[in-house]
Amino acid sequence: MKILTTSNLKKHFPIRSGVFLQVTGYVKALEKVNFAISEGETIGIVGESGCGKSTLGKTIVKIYEPTDGKITYFDPSGQSHDITKSLPRKVKATFRKDLQMIFQNPFDSLDPRMTVKDIIKEPIDTHRLFDNEKSKDEYIRELLNKVGLDTEYAGRYPHEFSGGQRQRIAIARSISVRPRLLICDEPTSALDVSVQSQIINLLKEIQRETNMAFIFISHNLDVVYHMSDRILVMYLGNIVESAPSTSLFGKPTHPYTKALMSAIPSWNPTKRKLDKVKLEGEPPSPINPPSGCPFHPRCQYRLEICDKIKPEPIEVSEGHFSSCHLYAKQ
Ligand SMILES: Nc1ncnc2c1ncn2[C@@H]1O[C@H](COP(=O)(O)OP(=O)(O)OP(=O)(O)O)[C@@H](O)[C@H]1O
Ligand SMILES: [Mg+2]
Repeated sequence: MKILTTSNLKKHFPIRSGVFLQVTGYVKALEKVNFAISEGETIGIVGESGCGKSTLGKTIVKIYEPTDGKITYFDPSGQSHDITKSLPRKVKATFRKDLQMIFQNPFDSLDPRMTVKDIIKEPIDTHRLFDNEKSKDEYIRELLNKVGLDTEYAGRYPHEFSGGQRQRIAIARSISVRPRLLICDEPTSALDVSVQSQIINLLKEIQRETNMAFIFISHNLDVVYHMSDRILVMYLGNIVESAPSTSLFGKPTHPYTKALMSAIPSWNPTKRKLDKVKLEGEPPSPINPPSGCPFHPRCQYRLEICDKIKPEPIEVSEGHFSSCHLYAKQ
């Protein structure tokens, strides 16, 4: 059953300058993003810094208002709701409970004045999951155990914990309301390498034990490969390739995806034979993105058409889409 879909989702941030703060341009963070996520599914999102991964996450949880396009939310009974502009009153609470997000820096996302217990309790109270204090306390203890924190820590404050422990608190808080979709935005990038795998394992465990859907945003292709059913590769606000995980890593098609994978030569999860594709320079600015295919200025395979026409997604094999003119039917 579907949870959420987007259709041609666009997010442009206005740039203001001058005394009167006139709009002098836009950061084109998302351009016509189409995607769908269903219960129990994990979608990985990869791409260089600034390509719009966090913006996509924040736009679908309604932290940002979309500039254009459509977001459809399917409530637990399967009924669809257009939530593009605002959350209809009757689904607001359900939506806020159903979609939870974990951020990169677990210190910013936890209120320093609240104890661990109160941090975890807050969403449980907001959504009135328990009316009995004793069973609520019992549930909070269970959650602390689940994320590997000693229940004795419940009365302590976030600053008393390490980064990894803080991320465990953030995870306990976000799963406490049993969301149908958990968006993890680089949940381990602020942590020590040794702690990263513990947090990934915890998330995997939650994934195995529940039917929760995940959107997993990460720079780490290895982690994304091991967590995700499907992967979206983003470049300058566009999804340039989208495929089942094994298909994407086994047979990447978009020159940008190949370049991302070539950047880590020793890593080869599917024993694939890959053309080496170099990725030079930085991505262009999303304020003035290139015409045609956004990747063409950096692409060693570029054709004459590439700076003129933006390629539409082409299904290169079952469920595997690539937005590249190289695959257009002759
Ligand atoms: N609130 C905002 N106001 C203005 N511009 C923004 C805002 N948030 C993001 N941007 C811009 O939108 C673009 C996409 O940013 P975003 O944070 O989504 O990228 P990202 O893929 O998550 O990058 P990273 O891997 O560094 O986290 C960037 O150019 C960024 O500067
Ligand atoms: Mg980000």
